[in-house]
Amino acid sequence: MSQVSGAGIEAAYRDRFPNSARLFEQGRVLFPNGVTHDSRHLKPFPVFIDRAVGSRKYAVDGHEIIDYWMGHGSLLLGHSHPAVVEAVTRQVAKGTHFGANHQLEMEWGEIVRRLMPSAERVRFTSSGTEATLMAIRLARIVTGRQKVLKFLGHFHGWHDLVMPAADAPYDLENVSMPGVTEGVLQDLVVLPPNNLDAVAQAIETHKPACLILEATGGHWSMVPMRGEFLHALRKLTEEKGVLLIFDEVITGFRVAPGGSQSHYGIKPDLTTLAKILAGGLPGGGVGGRADIMDALEFDNPHGQKMRHPGTYNGNPLSAAAGIAALQVVADGRPSRQANEMGRLLRTGLNDLFARRGVNWVAYGEFSMLSVLPNYDGPRPTDDGFIPYENQLEKLDAKRDPVLSHNFRCALLLNGVDFFGWRAMLSAAHTHGDIQRTVTAFSNAIDLLRKDGLLA
Ligand SMILES: Cc1ncc(COP(=O)(O)O)c(C=O)c1O
Repeated sequence: MSQVSGAGIEAAYRDRFPNSARLFEQGRVLFPNGVTHDSRHLKPFPVFIDRAVGSRKYAVDGHEIIDYWMGHGSLLLGHSHPAVVEAVTRQVAKGTHFGANHQLEMEWGEIVRRLMPSAERVRFTSSGTEATLMAIRLARIVTGRQKVLKFLGHFHGWHDLVMPAADAPYDLENVSMPGVTEGVLQDLVVLPPNNLDAVAQAIETHKPACLILEATGGHWSMVPMRGEFLHALRKLTEEKGVLLIFDEVITGFRVAPGGSQSHYGIKPDLTTLAKILAGGLPGGGVGGRADIMDALEFDNPHGQKMRHPGTYNGNPLSAAAGIAALQVVADGRPSRQANEMGRLLRTGLNDLFARRGVNWVAYGEFSMLSVLPNYDGPRPTDDGFIPYENQLEKLDAKRDPVLSHNFRCALLLNGVDFFGWRAMLSAAHTHGDIQRTVTAFSNAIDLLRKDGLLA
């Protein structure tokens, strides 16, 4: 007979991670929900990590965990890559903030421009959120227009204008968000993804400054966007004088050294970057057409300067880490390896789900993967498969929280940390990691079934 939902998993989890449980009890007084990033919230408590190397991280409870968070996507090369460790160690002794120009930021900007030729000029920020903030403001200055188009389910950081409509449940009629004013919302036009007519219509009606999007689709390919649609968007926005902003905070240097734009052969007007850009340290940036980036110059042809302060812009430690990482990324091998590991994990999981009679499906592209529970469509036939013909409401629905928390705990009990229902692969993941992960899923399925959470 099955036990109360999740009771067996929770008991085993508490037993396996007692030090994490203790630290969490201390931390929850200090931090809301005991975490410093919403995504890290986990019931009954999140695991505390002590150190990490390659594809593994190590809990304060001593257990080794195969990691699929990979620094929220910033660690394409894996944890503590020797080139990055060496570069940061060298730099920290030389100084962490000069309040002045330095050669590392030049080298960093040069390598970005070499890998991503659409970045004719570059400006560094401290995060991806700041990068999208900058790109949108630049677009407004240059076009003299105000409104911004974005897609439902596309995440561009957490500033007021882009956070609405980033997460399920979706409602096109009401994209309000606690703490975001009506005034801000008036400047935002939210559209269903993968619908060219809706974009064309919105451009006619709203005369927007720009369209911003995650180029492989919302929540890194959870609702994929394909090359054909992207090419059509490029053509349409160019014709209508709307700036096209590719948010490559995740996909930049991951999908390929030149990001998704090089994979699809599309030149956006502006690109927002972060994560891999700074080799796992804090950092972001905007690259784009020189005539648009010129709006950051003190005397510029637009007649209006975009002010850009920011204490940590281009800071030497992030620059050192970024250069080291991008030099390794440049030959394309890390992207190819991570993409291949993504393919293997998707295939391995789908074989497992079919074998074990589990109504879940794994899908995604490049080095990014999503697992969809309670799936009742046809089984995948190849790696390009998209469930439910790419319907946003089905692919990016709010997941059952009890199942979600227990699923992650069940995987952690088996030495795997998934990014919710998603995974970010890296070049440090091996065939052995993939096999161990599939076995961990098989064991997690047993645990979920035993607790009555899975049929
Ligand atoms: C596509 C995308 N854009 C922007 C951001 C915001 O970046 P940051 O967390 O560095 O502010 C993220 C973060 O995950 C992202 O995935």
